Amino acid sequence: MGTVNLENKTILITGVAGFIGSNLVKKIYQETPSAKVIGIDNINTYYDVTLKESRLNELAKYPGFNFIKGNIADKSLVMELFEKNKPTVVVNLAAQAGVRYSITNPDAYLESNLIGFFNILEACRQCDTLEHLVYASSSSVYGSNKKNPQSIDDKTDNPVSLYAASKKSNELMAHAYSKLYNIPSTGLRFFTVYGPAGRPDMAYFGFASKLVKGETIKLFNYGNCKRDFTYIDDVVEGVIRVMKISPDKKNGEDGLPIPPYAIYNIGNQKPENLQDFVQILCEELIQVDVLPKNYDLENHKELVPMQPGDVSVTYADIDTLERDFGYKPSTSLRTGLRKFAEWYAEFYK
Ligand SMILES: NC(=O)c1ccc[n+]([C@@H]2O[C@H](COP(=O)([O-])OP(=O)(O)OC[C@H]3O[C@@H](n4cnc5c(N)ncnc54)[C@H](O)[C@@H]3O)[C@@H](O)[C@H]2O)c1
Repeated sequence: MGTVNLENKTILITGVAGFIGSNLVKKIYQETPSAKVIGIDNINTYYDVTLKESRLNELAKYPGFNFIKGNIADKSLVMELFEKNKPTVVVNLAAQAGVRYSITNPDAYLESNLIGFFNILEACRQCDTLEHLVYASSSSVYGSNKKNPQSIDDKTDNPVSLYAASKKSNELMAHAYSKLYNIPSTGLRFFTVYGPAGRPDMAYFGFASKLVKGETIKLFNYGNCKRDFTYIDDVVEGVIRVMKISPDKKNGEDGLPIPPYAIYNIGNQKPENLQDFVQILCEELIQVDVLPKNYDLENHKELVPMQPGDVSVTYADIDTLERDFGYKPSTSLRTGLRKFAEWYAEFYK
């Protein structure tokens, strides 16, 4: 595997106003202040734009950070961005996320996740400074597999949502481009990332907002879902380690490149039951006075059937991540939800 030095290098990050992207920029500047980060985001209205703007405001304090408002589905814009900035590392996080939204708004997934990602690949193909393309995939590619934990060697050809299909397509497209044009690429299958200033469309955030308003929360699959909740700091630590080590470029016996291509899971390796998760979330929201001390959780939850597009269990096998990067996420759900609750209390006070 090759080493990629980030000192004084240009790093292009798409989806930079997003939850993972904005945290990644902060971490890059904590570790490598000499890096030049170019961030692009179309600041779409899928969820509260003020949250995206507040994340960007925090990034404005880094002198080496440049923000471009734009859509990665705009090919000429993407080409121009690459030509002008000549990135060494590209991290593609821009995507239409969310499983349930893909049932009602499929077009958004085609535009951002397929056309957008294709444009990134095309630009990478023509970028002679590029040393590593890292892109977000998702645990959703495991679909309705019954085997746990979920390993990168498992079959991933039975997606149960268009979102999952679009992420699997990204992995396949990256493979073809790695093979054809010798582009070192690494896909990361993230498992339910959570934390402060996270995504309001995700369950932990939506539950908090509903509980605060005294509304009832719905626990799908009658509360029997399990999720491998992975804390944001652990995820960005993993992404940075991966950025710095690229898959090797080698030729095969036929003289053609063996694709410098890799896929890793980034997950906490500890699936949590939804009922336990809600209990901890509620306790932590009480602790920061967002919910009253005598809050009656039992009266605010409803057990309902599974939703189309959802999977019942996610559970990451991260043996290869540990082997190649000497790293595994470790933040406990209690610690992570405490940080989320503290942020929530402050942001919405
Ligand atoms: N958060 C998770 O639990 C999780 C799990 C698995 C995979 N992922 C993937 O990780 C990536 C980052 O996720 P996140 O949680 O930070 O999501 P996010 O929605 O907070 O961030 C994505 C950002 O991309 C931007 N964007 C979307 N389409 C765009 C386009 N066409 N052009 C430019 N910008 C665009 C959005 O405005 C948003 O700010 C996504 O690819 C997502 O699918 C996230």
